Amino acid sequence: MSIEANHRKRLAMCFQMLLPLSFLLLCFPVTLFAEHMTNFSDEPIEPLHVEINEDPAKVELGRRLFNEERLSYNNTVSCAHCHDLNAGGADGRKFSVGVDGKLGIINAPTVLNSRLNIAQFWDGRAATLEEQVNGPINNPVEMGSNWEEVVTKISAAPEYKALFAQAFAGVISPDTISKAIASFERTLVTPDARFDRFLRGDEHAISAEEKRGYQLFKSYGCISCHQGMAVGGNMYEKLGVLVDYYKGRDDLTESDNGRYNQTKVEEHRHEFKVPSLRNIELTAPYFHNGSAKTLEEAVETMAYHQVGRLITHEDRDLIVAFLKSLTGKYKGADQ
Ligand code: HEC
Ligand code: HEC
Repeated sequence: MSIEANHRKRLAMCFQMLLPLSFLLLCFPVTLFAEHMTNFSDEPIEPLHVEINEDPAKVELGRRLFNEERLSYNNTVSCAHCHDLNAGGADGRKFSVGVDGKLGIINAPTVLNSRLNIAQFWDGRAATLEEQVNGPINNPVEMGSNWEEVVTKISAAPEYKALFAQAFAGVISPDTISKAIASFERTLVTPDARFDRFLRGDEHAISAEEKRGYQLFKSYGCISCHQGMAVGGNMYEKLGVLVDYYKGRDDLTESDNGRYNQTKVEEHRHEFKVPSLRNIELTAPYFHNGSAKTLEEAVETMAYHQVGRLITHEDRDLIVAFLKSLTGKYKGADQ
């Protein structure tokens, strides 16, 4: 094991041991002296709050393009085909199915709240939402097209004339198409989860069980990777950081290499962007390889491989209950 990995492992273990202690130290005085005044500012998860500052003309154009099948070579597959906004922003499959029924090699993450990610894709290979659009359009098992074809088809479609005129002075190009789609995606946020209401001070927004689940989420150390506004999305970590996930598996594919495929740095092998856990109950199956069919299974795998614990069914179910309180509202309605 390299020095860095060793160091990280030790850090993680220290963290696990120190965590309960630091909670005692931190939380005890708070419960003692502020019984009726809940102060959530120290919580490692923030309520979802973003200012949507997009040009409505670009957002409307982006919405149309997101649902546009002509972005695929044979006019059958839109972005929404794999990112169903009424089903958690993903496709509910282990691996996605693209043009001509072709099977992909990795699980589709949600597009909801993707603006909060440090970068896009499991391995972070697209720095921005604009850059990400390149991927599916050119991917032979997703949309199987190319920019020239897409620009030609969209330019020939009369219904887009006025929309591009309003949003981009009539310019139809890879750049404007990507910008419009990204503008639309930045509006796909899901605020006002019950857990957010709890963080903002509504003690009754979540149940006693869900509160216990949140405490366990912290004391197991899940929070060291899944934190911040998106409850994830802001760092890369190895799948199997404490207990090797891949040992003895003979079904590894290229996508299991994770960030290594981009950087060719050995340390990055099997590293993935830590996914956001917002709306997680809606996006089974889980993990980049779609291997966990249920949230219970995903939590057990995480407990074992990421924090080195064999979790009891009781703790697992409490954590799952907490995770379900992270489901937010899309356009004001329950997701
Ligand atoms: C055939 C299914 C399919 C289609 C069509 C598709 N996607 Fe995806 N999308 C995926 C998969 C699979 C991934 C994960 C790929 C990876 O990480 O290597 C992904 C990843 C993403 C991500 C990154 C999310 C994250 O958390 O990293 C965004 C954003 C996204 N897609 C938006 C789009 C847009 C916009 C379109 C249309 C231009 C589109 N997708 C078309 C399957 C699809
Ligand atoms: C060391 C960092 C780390 C810790 C600690 C950690 N996770 Fe994760 N988590 C990840 C990474 C990385 C992934 C993505 C792995 C993959 O798909 O290959 C992930 C994925 C998940 C997923 C699936 C998300 C999806 O969209 O498919 C769930 C659910 C989850 N974690 C819950 C937990 C819980 C519960 C704990 C505590 C028991 C925990 N995690 C601890 C890094 C971590």
